[in-house]
Amino acid sequence: MFKTARFRAIAGIALAGAMALGVTACSGGSDAEGGGSAEGDVTTIGFVAVGPEGGWRTANEKNIQDSFSKENGFDLKYAPATNGDQNSQITAFTSFIDEGVDAILLSATEATGWESVLERAKEAEIPVVLLDRGIEPNDTELYTSRIAPDNVGISASAAEWANEQFPEGANYVVLEGPPGLSVVNDRNKGWDETIDPNFTKLESQSANWSTEEAKSVFETILKANNNNVQLVFAQNDEMGLGAALAVEEAGLKPGTDVKIITIDGTKAALEALAAGRLSFVAEYNPLFGDTAIEVVDAALAGETVESEIVVPSVTFDSPEAATEALPDRAF
Ligand code: AHR
Repeated sequence: MFKTARFRAIAGIALAGAMALGVTACSGGSDAEGGGSAEGDVTTIGFVAVGPEGGWRTANEKNIQDSFSKENGFDLKYAPATNGDQNSQITAFTSFIDEGVDAILLSATEATGWESVLERAKEAEIPVVLLDRGIEPNDTELYTSRIAPDNVGISASAAEWANEQFPEGANYVVLEGPPGLSVVNDRNKGWDETIDPNFTKLESQSANWSTEEAKSVFETILKANNNNVQLVFAQNDEMGLGAALAVEEAGLKPGTDVKIITIDGTKAALEALAAGRLSFVAEYNPLFGDTAIEVVDAALAGETVESEIVVPSVTFDSPEAATEALPDRAF
């Protein structure tokens, strides 16, 4: 078992933590076994990140960096992707393996294409923890654990709310994130499996998590359908806010003429819900740095870790609920 000075300090916590037995984590690359930190008191982490992408991403990546701090005994190397390009992520991932870091955190910009570098990390006995984004095919032998809120469950709860709001059904549009992402596929799955058959899906288009793109995409759809759209399912807050702008541009009232659902739960979305411009906001909790530390510690100690750890999230279905949550909103 590989033990850093810092690990010994919280051994009690990790072992007492809710780390139910699952897949056997590889005991991280250590000097004794080649690579890792010389002194044994600082744990080196390679963070293969997404980089700037909106409110949620900023909150998540800041939370991870704040958690894996020097004070907490970590040396975290932050490698955001170049314009979301997967090749830049694979290059960073490979260099972290060559450097012999103790563990790697990965938020993938694409779901596919990770098998070979994950195999290499496994051979080097470097645990890999997936943050938020999954890989496809989802081979749990290739990584230690994935930590994320429940994308399928969250979008199912959004569809349940829509079913209650429109018992006779409605014409709706889906604004999706970039194609090829596990979270996009999972959010479609939860929604499509739950929305009542008396609803009509007019369009499902990607707007790349962007307010501007969502505004122009939805403006076009409103015109093409003579504004006969009652509901928007936006897969993130920024796109939902873009749809609200398009509704106003069309001389309609968001929240009244067109109800807009979003996922993330950022301050901007809760402010729009409090103002009645959005109608339902499902949180996708970005603050799971502490959980990631527990997983990395357990993996480096050779403990077994659940291959999937679900981060709890809540939903907001009224201006009152948003107003109540806003004062303490951390992201
Ligand atoms: O992967 C999670 C998604 O990525 C968030 O919902 C979106 O806002 C972010 O950019």
